[in-house]
Amino acid sequence: MKHFAVSGAATASPVRGTRMLEKDDEVGMSEQGFKRFRRRRAPAEAAPAASSAPRQRPMDAPSSAGSIQLPAALPEPWERIRQVPFPGTEEHKTRLPLVSRFRSAPAAKSFDLLRTRLSHTLKARGWKRVAVTAPAAGCGSTFSAVNLALSLARVPGSRTVLMDLNFRQPGIAHAMGIQATADMGAFLSGAVQMEDQLMRPLPSLAVGLNSAKDQDAAEILHSRSCSAAVDDLMLRSGADTALFDLPPVLEHDDTAAFLPQVDGVLLISDGTSTTAAQLAACEKMLAGHTELLGVVLNRARRSDSPLN
Ligand SMILES: Nc1ncnc2c1ncn2[C@@H]1O[C@H](COP(=O)(O)OP(=O)(O)O)[C@@H](O)[C@H]1O
Ligand SMILES: [Mg+2]
Repeated sequence: MKHFAVSGAATASPVRGTRMLEKDDEVGMSEQGFKRFRRRRAPAEAAPAASSAPRQRPMDAPSSAGSIQLPAALPEPWERIRQVPFPGTEEHKTRLPLVSRFRSAPAAKSFDLLRTRLSHTLKARGWKRVAVTAPAAGCGSTFSAVNLALSLARVPGSRTVLMDLNFRQPGIAHAMGIQATADMGAFLSGAVQMEDQLMRPLPSLAVGLNSAKDQDAAEILHSRSCSAAVDDLMLRSGADTALFDLPPVLEHDDTAAFLPQVDGVLLISDGTSTTAAQLAACEKMLAGHTELLGVVLNRARRSDSPLN
């Protein structure tokens, strides 16, 4: 951890006579030179021994006149995001087919495949921001966004952000078994900082939860402050990928309002209920505004899966 790293203390010290012993000094030093060197060092070395006060580690030392006190370096914003236990409850461990708990399940393999394809596409185009939405409620947007985020976060050295922007029916907190206390509206208005809004269930995954429904969702997502908050989030988090869980395209205009903030959209269709007409309507709505990165078939029959 670099919380207390103070750099350059030896070379930047203004105190005379405490220079570092250099290589040439060591090699060519005569006995006389060595005695002179010891005499110069003696007062500074003798001082703590003469004092009855307990020896302090350099980092505990109080400031004294004439020495430079460098400010302790703060950890970077990502490290300041609070870590939370995950999965939160015993009951939660057995409830959801989350990819990180069931590595060999077909669903986990499908999400890993989706992750890899999506990452390739995003990297090739220099993109990071992806909206996850569906034609109608219940298709599995949240389920897919959470599992995809967990799969992305398994890539070593990566950083993934998952934001719950569904003010109609927030769902990420419930899906992940984390208690949502955060105010997403306040974050998007610029009143709350990223570090205070987000939580890290995994070291490489930060989630922005939503605890309150808001009927003015489209206006919030359309606002200038929302755009600034998302830009700030991307810049300061250093995220490789950000997934934004949004309400259904055909039921609200929230997703349409947020499209300027994303590079592309993943559309989740429900293999048991989504119709071709619904998918066509979504594509028509998105065309010209953003890139359709893919249509994901959720609740697919086994025979529909490329992994069978
Ligand atoms: N492939 C799936 N396998 C098992 N459960 C699923 C699957 N897809 C969705 N669900 C469950 O269906 C419910 C609705 O899914 P959700 O992701 O909340 O829908 P949406 O966000 O699109 O409204 C949730 O309880 C979710 O866990
Ligand atoms: Mg949802």
